[in-house]
Amino acid sequence: MDKKDHIAFAQIAAAFTAALAVARPTEGATAPNPVVGCAVLNAAGDILTVAAHPGAGAPHAEALALAQLAQMDVSDQAHTLVVTLEPCNHHGRTGPCSAAILAAGIRCVWYGLPDPNPLAQGGAAHLRASGVRVFGLTESPGGGPLLAQVRRQLAPFLTRVQSARPFVTVKQALDPSGSMIPPPGQKTFTGPRALAFAHGLRRRADAIITGSGTVLADRPEFTIRHVPDFAGKSRPLVILDRRGRVDAEYLAAAHARGFRPRLVQDLEQALRDLAQEGCNEVLVEAGPLLTESLRRSGLWDDWALIQKGAGPQGDDLITVTARDGQKETI
Ligand SMILES: NC(=O)c1ccc[n+]([C@@H]2O[C@H](COP(=O)([O-])OP(=O)(O)OC[C@H]3O[C@@H](n4cnc5c(N)ncnc54)[C@H](OP(=O)(O)O)[C@@H]3O)[C@@H](O)[C@H]2O)c1
Repeated sequence: MDKKDHIAFAQIAAAFTAALAVARPTEGATAPNPVVGCAVLNAAGDILTVAAHPGAGAPHAEALALAQLAQMDVSDQAHTLVVTLEPCNHHGRTGPCSAAILAAGIRCVWYGLPDPNPLAQGGAAHLRASGVRVFGLTESPGGGPLLAQVRRQLAPFLTRVQSARPFVTVKQALDPSGSMIPPPGQKTFTGPRALAFAHGLRRRADAIITGSGTVLADRPEFTIRHVPDFAGKSRPLVILDRRGRVDAEYLAAAHARGFRPRLVQDLEQALRDLAQEGCNEVLVEAGPLLTESLRRSGLWDDWALIQKGAGPQGDDLITVTARDGQKETI
């Protein structure tokens, strides 16, 4: 490798961190597309610009970052491109990123994960064949911690493409006695921090799943109130209701709130259908019956548990446990 061409891995790692960070606000905005962040560096390894894919139909992160460089009039300084997902190699709603990268004269590309989508993959091979030096984090010693963050950010998209179902987050709130049932006349028993957290989960979800028991008991709105929602985002509201107990008025009111409500009988089929419709991530907000049934089925990815008053200062304790047992306290 030409010495002046070499950018230290610490700078590449910083660029991956910046790419992950710029993409974070788009988590929940991009379905059926993935959440992708990109950073472009000059030959000294300084970040010139960062960009994230805003959502389906909009430019990919790489194309946006390269366009920003042109606007800043620094395209001639672009040397290395760092992107969380392998650049695409196909004409979808936008042109192939591999072509945009070649046209921009990029000499080196680092990407997080290979694209699992057979239609879009092949960008790395095409760039290599065209003389660009291409590195995948998966093949890089020392890439492990970054790779875990990239995997987590891409998990909803990867789950849909690889498992034909969306990434499933279950939210469960427990009172100090271990019950999920709120006191009479109340729909919730958690504090403001837990509410903001729960509404953040709703915001990133592409669909909400609940059970007929919750609808009949609480007539919940399922709207996003404690954090801002993505403008114009409409979600399926899937209600498991084998006995057809949920009334038309509730469905009409949910529709008026911007949901696409539907009654379903089978969870697995409902998940397959949601994946087919392009939902990357769903949030389950149900009562004890459906929540327990989900736990037993194993059809979940993140379990978000809110324990009232169990925090160190008597506040709500919020933990998210992944399927592999990794636990994060929020
Ligand atoms: N603390 C919390 O996090 C939380 C969250 C939501 C609700 N809640 C509370 O939960 C209470 C309602 O409890 P719940 O258990 O009746 O509500 P639920 O779990 O939301 O709904 C249960 C109903 O879902 C239907 N269902 C369809 N497929 C199912 C399956 N595979 N497994 C289980 N159920 C299935 C069943 O009706 P069919 O047989 O007719 O299909 C069942 O009666 C309310 O008081 C509400 O406030 C608490």
